[in-house]
Amino acid sequence: MSSTTRHRPPRAGSIAARLGQSRVASRLEGEVRVTAADLVDCVAEAKLKVAAVRYKVEGEVRTKAEKLRSRVSEAKSKLGDEARFIKSWIDDPLRTGSVTPSSPALARRMASYVDPEQPGPVIEIGPGTGPVTEALIERGIDEGRLILVEYSPEFCALLRERFPRATVVQGDAYALSTTLAGHLTEKAIALVSSLPLFNRPPPARSALAKEAFPLLVEGAPFIQFTYSVISPIPRKGSGLKAFVSDWVLRNIPPARVWVYREAN
Ligand SMILES: C[S@@+](CC[C@H](N)C(=O)[O-])C[C@H]1O[C@@H](n2cnc3c(N)ncnc32)[C@H](O)[C@@H]1O
Repeated sequence: MSSTTRHRPPRAGSIAARLGQSRVASRLEGEVRVTAADLVDCVAEAKLKVAAVRYKVEGEVRTKAEKLRSRVSEAKSKLGDEARFIKSWIDDPLRTGSVTPSSPALARRMASYVDPEQPGPVIEIGPGTGPVTEALIERGIDEGRLILVEYSPEFCALLRERFPRATVVQGDAYALSTTLAGHLTEKAIALVSSLPLFNRPPPARSALAKEAFPLLVEGAPFIQFTYSVISPIPRKGSGLKAFVSDWVLRNIPPARVWVYREAN
């Protein structure tokens, strides 16, 4: 190639030079535009990430606060129940029979002898502030199936508030058929009792069982807890078969659960 045909850079200010500059400028402009778009994307992505983290943290804080709130209100309501029980015991120690409500462990043990799959109502006598009622519901017995017989009007008001779909009957469980007249439309599948039976003489306890079983379906359990070492329902001549649980130690005082059934 001769020196005359060799490629030479365009002269400054020439059309070719201006053309070259504008190409470089437009390439640079393009690159700047792409970089700017990338930056916008990065900022948007970062904003999304920040929002997600904030949402997660806020959610966790909210859940923790809710848990704390519910634990505080649970503790408050437990303290309230203890206070109600003590007041009820001071007013009428023989009827209340205990200075403190049953523990969840004892309540669960009582409920464990009720079959939630069997349809029909469940009678609870002496529900007090409702720990056993709660355990029955936890076990899977719908609140609407529960018939609660409680002597104390204050406890009845509390039970109506806590278990609005249950039938709360204020009355004497020792006159069970009269008390339940009009409330029990079919035979019950179980009777769960927390009555302080030992505050009554043996004939009254036997009479309670005698009155209760005709209200239950065949083979249904009469469940009763006691702090005593002997059977709260006198066994001799009762025509009942009985099972007794081991001691539930997580209760003050420790208690056992008796389950009676008609022997046939
Ligand atoms: C030992 S407390 C048990 C309360 C509750 N079920 C618990 O386990 O914490 C006995 C309950 O039976 C009630 N009660 C006592 N005699 C009664 C009766 N004749 N009829 C109905 N309820 C009675 C008392 O008012 C009290 O609420």
